[in-house]
Amino acid sequence: MKQRRIEDRKDYYYWKAKKNGYRSRAAYKLLQMDKKFGLIKKDYWILDLGASPGGWSQVAVELGARVVAVDLNPMKEIDGVTFIQGDICSEETLEKIVKIRERFDAVICDASPKITGNWDIDHLKSVDLAKSAFMIAKRVLKPGGNFVVKMFQGEETPRLFNQFKGYFRFKKLHSPQASRKRSSEIYFIGKGFKGFSTLK
Ligand SMILES: C[S@@+](CC[C@H](N)C(=O)[O-])C[C@H]1O[C@@H](n2cnc3c(N)ncnc32)[C@H](O)[C@@H]1O
Repeated sequence: MKQRRIEDRKDYYYWKAKKNGYRSRAAYKLLQMDKKFGLIKKDYWILDLGASPGGWSQVAVELGARVVAVDLNPMKEIDGVTFIQGDICSEETLEKIVKIRERFDAVICDASPKITGNWDIDHLKSVDLAKSAFMIAKRVLKPGGNFVVKMFQGEETPRLFNQFKGYFRFKKLHSPQASRKRSSEIYFIGKGFKGFSTLK
């Protein structure tokens, strides 16, 4: 365990984030996905779910967006970010979000469950979080909007992809270079939300 922590601390993106003032190495995952897929633009409204400590929110603000961020844990202030401390699986949190803003250009979710070390349990918990993020995205995304959500890969991954894909013009499962080699995480990227009018 100690060896693994030392390994983590020596990670290239960990040091790069520290040097460049990002709160997490995860910031580079969003930067890389944005560069590849063009997810965030100037003046966009972004909903950042599972946002703490705030690396993704920092990136979104740098790209000229305004952000509403949500996490179970507290998050230190960032200019341009309105923070809600809450559970993305609860209806109460959704009510708080829409009180601040009804519609978003993109919903991005990097929420992770507490890791148990059991691959199947962690996978299923991450699937639940991804489904909750999707429920929120369906409620608040503008037609044409973008959706990014993390999950840990497992047997539910294809089912989840099939569930999400019909709602977006462009859809892909993607693993950014900044994801750790040993990590099972993968991101669903959906662009061009079709909105409800076109769906059954
Ligand atoms: C990997 S971190 C996110 C890192 C963030 N993207 C960044 O760049 O700083 C995952 C976060 O998901 C949050 N989380 C997990 N379950 C959640 C839930 N049900 N509701 C809200 N946040 C949750 C955790 O508290 C944790 O802060």
